[in-house]
Amino acid sequence: METLRTAFDAAHFREEGHKVVDLLANLLAQVQAGQGPVLPWTPPPSELAHWERRMAEPPQRVAEFVGEFVERSIRLHHPHYLGHQVCAPAPAAALAGLAAELLNNGMAVYEMGPAANALERWIIGRTCAVLGLSPGDGFLTSGGTLATLTALLAARSRVLGEETLEEGTDRRWAVIASEEGHYCTARAVQVMGWGRAGLVTVPTDERFKLRVDLLPAALAEAERRGRRPVALVACACSTSTGSYDDLPALADFCAQHGLWFHVDGAHGAAVAFCPELKDRIAGIERADSAIVDFHKLLLTPALATAVLFREPAASWAAFHLRAQYLFAENERDPWRDSGRRTYECTKLSMSAKIAAIWRTSGEELWREHLRTVHALARDFARMLRARPPFEVAVEPESNIVCFRMRPPGMDEAAVDARNALARQRVIESGRFYIVQTKLRGRVWLRTALMNPFTTTDHLAAMLDAVEAAGTA
Ligand SMILES: Cc1ncc(COP(=O)(O)O)c(C=O)c1O
Repeated sequence: METLRTAFDAAHFREEGHKVVDLLANLLAQVQAGQGPVLPWTPPPSELAHWERRMAEPPQRVAEFVGEFVERSIRLHHPHYLGHQVCAPAPAAALAGLAAELLNNGMAVYEMGPAANALERWIIGRTCAVLGLSPGDGFLTSGGTLATLTALLAARSRVLGEETLEEGTDRRWAVIASEEGHYCTARAVQVMGWGRAGLVTVPTDERFKLRVDLLPAALAEAERRGRRPVALVACACSTSTGSYDDLPALADFCAQHGLWFHVDGAHGAAVAFCPELKDRIAGIERADSAIVDFHKLLLTPALATAVLFREPAASWAAFHLRAQYLFAENERDPWRDSGRRTYECTKLSMSAKIAAIWRTSGEELWREHLRTVHALARDFARMLRARPPFEVAVEPESNIVCFRMRPPGMDEAAVDARNALARQRVIESGRFYIVQTKLRGRVWLRTALMNPFTTTDHLAAMLDAVEAAGTA
């Protein structure tokens, strides 16, 4: 009993909690000032060996454990964090997250999360309004990958008929998507049982946008495979280069061919919150479904994704038969048990973290953040163009910039090798964190400028480091 009592003791929690918050505030101050490594790099076997040794030792206090965990983790608040599309969360959202974790409201049913369910309802309503999805409805779920599967299950049920929920489907169906689409669409198609041939990809143009003129060829390809397309997935924006597809043209095509129009706005639909950038997603209001990740550009700790449907009834279609959702529509509060529409049963109270941003800073925080990181991406592209042997893959529309060193006369394979080696050396140095991607089969370095406190000076220093690492 002694162990149990200590573990749940409120005074102990307070004491350790203060230490943890102090430790995190110190870390924040330090890394935001650019001190220390962004990534305390250790090779994977050494890291595993470290924890194997530590986990076998006698118990320690939680603040000590957290201190060590923090010490050995990547720091997204560091201005040299220029890597994947995961945000440096707003501290207020993280604090709300701590409360949500302690309360552990499972929220699938109303009683297990009254505040969380009501806040989710408000967040969905406001987000639908900002995106122009009217009348609109939806819910929060655990990440863009699961959100994509959920939206495509709804599409399947709507286009093929609700019997598919009872009876399953054969393999005569397909989804059309850009060759630059995120792999979660391919995964969803495979989970639905339609295999690799169930995804028909459309080539992109020189700006990595889906070629609308090749859509008839995609239909023909589907037919050649013996498949009937159910849905088309648009990128808003794409993962590798941050390119936005032509949503109005794709909406027209879907309307013409009876396809469900899904917009993958996991990263880029956030621009809806910034008037100067909103034009990039013009046409999203015609989507049958759309997703937006609050944990990417909207400063919320992961995972927190909204799945939205233009037609409210469609928000029930992924997992429910008609009778059930009509019944729900007749209820006074059909939204109250949010788990009825999601894949999850027990669900994190992600609404608390999102709502904390709305309550403490309002949408102005997102506006400033979006403006800042988009302007930085444009400045970075300009800097790259003025600095051979660097080149930029495409003028950024988002906060994502792909670039590489391309010394004159060097063949493509050597260019690939030099850039990949430079990146590996740079990230192992702990000074900067950047990622890489392949565009048209070639290696490019890639930055998602997620941190609003990164400046052009930081980016210039990163290019110095990459150049030095590539020539050493
Ligand atoms: C365009 C796009 N869609 C979907 C996803 C998957 O989202 P999540 O990582 O939240 O599962 C990503 C992730 O990077 C993405 O960039």
